Amino acid sequence: MLCLQIPSHPEWIISASNNIHSILVDHAHCEKKAAANALHLIQNYPQYPELVQEMIAIVKEEWEHFEQVYAIILEQNIQFTKDTGDSYAQQLSKNIRKSEEFKLLDLLLVDSIIEARSCERFSILSKSMSIPSYLRDFYSTLLASEAGHYVTFVDLAKKFYPDETVKSRLQQLAAIEAKIVQQLHNLPTIHG
Ligand SMILES: [Fe+2]
Ligand SMILES: [Fe+2]
Repeated sequence: MLCLQIPSHPEWIISASNNIHSILVDHAHCEKKAAANALHLIQNYPQYPELVQEMIAIVKEEWEHFEQVYAIILEQNIQFTKDTGDSYAQQLSKNIRKSEEFKLLDLLLVDSIIEARSCERFSILSKSMSIPSYLRDFYSTLLASEAGHYVTFVDLAKKFYPDETVKSRLQQLAAIEAKIVQQLHNLPTIHG
């Protein structure tokens, strides 16, 4: 489960598979926000070539994922509606410390945890017999990519901070994430 401390509630997949159109719309927004977030890191940390290079790769991959999900939305005649927001990501992001000393560490580790949870949810979708097989296959193909993003963010953090600092902050943030996940309402969104 990568760094995650608890699995998603079993109710989530029931809600997700009963409302697969909502999942796809929210998923498209998640991919778009993941690309935007990587651009944002380039905007704020242009002085670090390792970070810029990795974010160039992530922007490309996340944008490709957006295109893939959007193609399914069009094929299936699903109404693509406005982003309703992601309270899970917002709650987790509140734990990013403002001081310059730790801000980059927290930004990278919060991103890594969001990637890990997305990966877990894609894995659940890829095994659900309640959704069409083409979607199961689609979610299986995305798994490896999102797991790779988790590793990219953790490895980048280790380029700027000592391994022990990264490890202990990742554990702290993962514990906070587990509490957030316990209080989710199992809505039909990727992080619902
Ligand atoms: Fe993605
Ligand atoms: Fe990702």
